Amino acid sequence: MQENTILVKEPLNSAVVKFVIYKPLIARSAKAGQFVILRGREGGERVPVTLVDWDSEKGTITVIIQAIGKSTAMFNSLKQGEQFLNVAGPLGTPVEIKNYGTVAVVGGGVGIAEVYPIARALKEAGNRVIAVLGARTQELLILENEMTELCDKTVCATDDGSHGMKGMVTDAIQALHDGGEKINAGFIIGPIPMMKFTARLMDKLGITPYASLNPIMLDGTGMCGCCRVTVEGKVRFACVEGPMFPARTIDFDELIRRTSEYKPLEKESLENFQKDHVCKCGLH
Ligand SMILES: Cc1cc2nc3c(=O)[nH]c(=O)nc-3n(C[C@H](O)[C@H](O)[C@H](O)COP(=O)(O)OP(=O)(O)OC[C@H]3O[C@@H](n4cnc5c(N)ncnc54)[C@H](O)[C@@H]3O)c2cc1C
Ligand code: FES
Repeated sequence: MQENTILVKEPLNSAVVKFVIYKPLIARSAKAGQFVILRGREGGERVPVTLVDWDSEKGTITVIIQAIGKSTAMFNSLKQGEQFLNVAGPLGTPVEIKNYGTVAVVGGGVGIAEVYPIARALKEAGNRVIAVLGARTQELLILENEMTELCDKTVCATDDGSHGMKGMVTDAIQALHDGGEKINAGFIIGPIPMMKFTARLMDKLGITPYASLNPIMLDGTGMCGCCRVTVEGKVRFACVEGPMFPARTIDFDELIRRTSEYKPLEKESLENFQKDHVCKCGLH
């Protein structure tokens, strides 16, 4: 079997695809909270994605990718049996897994997939785990069954009320607190504003918040400085020191500014890819 081969491709909704990839070395050493950097083709962008699952016996890793720009759209158009050009990892510092007591794992959108391995590891370490899953609509809410099976309690919130409670994950956390849940720590992964407001609320409610940061990354090994974030007033490199950091003192506004810097170029690049894609496969 050739390394980097896609063994399973399973769409989870219109924008999100689950891939099981043959990569024995990474499968042997992956830990919760780590990620890989993928490239689809020569000259292609290096894209960080979280290790959602791994099987050391079968030599496989699982990633779940949301098509958001050119590279992720290109990845999600790859077929079963095809290969990623590079799969580098495992990268990043694993999340500190210990018994915190009761923990909330909070996922927004594709962040639900990213928080899943952390929920599993926290459960194995004896924590009582409450999953708080948020998405814009029911269609975009992924892995609810898997989370429900794994966690002691699962609460869903959708912006439009199409599934679970109507509102955001912050509303769900406030409702848990008001209902008497005593939560010790929270692990948050999702869009940056969602992480910012969830961390702020948790801090107010006496829950210690941690957030997994997603700055733009290049090498993923601490060399380029592209993934700089500010935590507790200090510059940290998210690719090697994170991506999970204590969230109370993260400068989320700086992170929003830095991830938006290339938006016009990213938009242009996606539009060009979509034009080319029409010509090549005739699917759209
Ligand atoms: C440690 C880490 C783990 C990640 N895990 C996953 C995962 O498991 N699944 C998944 O689908 N995505 C994950 N991401 C986000 C993913 O890397 C980005 O969506 C991807 O780089 C976008 O590339 P693109 O070329 O498709 O889009 P681009 O053209 O580069 O960007 C398109 C849009 O996405 C935004 N964007 C760019 N880079 C990021 C980023 N790093 N995070 C969030 N938004 C971004 C841009 O501001 C722009 O609006 C992770 C990011 C990090 C840093
Ligand atoms: S991505 Fe280059 S230092 Fe982190």
